[in-house]
Amino acid sequence: MQQNYQVSDMKVLNFGSLNIDYVYSVNHIIIPGETEPVAEVSEHCGGKGLNQSVALARAGVRVYHAGMFGEEGDLLIDKLSENGVNTEYIRKITGRSGHTIIQVDKNGQNSILLFGGANRALTRDFIDDVIGGFDAGDIIVLQNEVNLIDYIIDKAYDRGMKIVLNPSPYDDAVTACDLRKVWLFFLNEIEGGQMTGESDPERILNVIRERYPGACTVLTLGADGSVYQDTDRRFRQEIFKVKAVDTTAAGDTFTGYFVSAIIDGMEPDKGLELAAKASAIAVTRHGAADSIPGRDEV
Ligand code: RIB
Repeated sequence: MQQNYQVSDMKVLNFGSLNIDYVYSVNHIIIPGETEPVAEVSEHCGGKGLNQSVALARAGVRVYHAGMFGEEGDLLIDKLSENGVNTEYIRKITGRSGHTIIQVDKNGQNSILLFGGANRALTRDFIDDVIGGFDAGDIIVLQNEVNLIDYIIDKAYDRGMKIVLNPSPYDDAVTACDLRKVWLFFLNEIEGGQMTGESDPERILNVIRERYPGACTVLTLGADGSVYQDTDRRFRQEIFKVKAVDTTAAGDTFTGYFVSAIIDGMEPDKGLELAAKASAIAVTRHGAADSIPGRDEV
């Protein structure tokens, strides 16, 4: 990576969503006006935030999760605790937790309805308190399933933290952010296209390098693998071919494992390889957080 790393007492904070995922196994993803009977429904812990914390922890990183959950969400904090994630910055509030309704088809492809719930109740005071517990050189990992990410980015940047952003799902909240403050982007092809107005991966990366010359980027391309870019390097990684049953959380697994590799001092090309292996295992299993493998297995 471009900037030098001091791993010694550096801490990792993930400020992110906690969702209950209601997963429906369907024949095909439903189209407008259609009704499709469903034989199987299951409940899982998820949320891009929670998944990425679990991935970091299973990859061996000591991670603090910050966020909020609602009255029915105790299983979410339990899931983080049982994976060794520090939960001191998580608050339980009145009202509903974040949840999703996920259709997963026979090929493991999904489509997701997201209800923000408690994830969208963050306040500036809460964010100030959390960020106040971290120091220059610490890493903060963010997605776009909580409110106020622009404020979190500004505060973390002022604190001297290194900002990792997975701007997913991409919407106006992302365009409101000062993205020049981001140290490492995680994008898929769709988010890369939304950010740059380009569809060709090479062009997406060119535009990002031009706009954010100090940032590193990981672009994931589904079956076409992934690419890492910084100021003067591009590394490519193919996927490890497996039979996918559920692609939910594959991207979150990739993010957690790549960040863990960089923290461990691995070169980015080796980080891509490790992350590709971990997410290949994740797609062979059902569910979000529960599908993420441990480091030994990877
Ligand atoms: O990235 C997968 C996650 O996205 C799911 O767990 C779901 O909660 C949605 O937020």
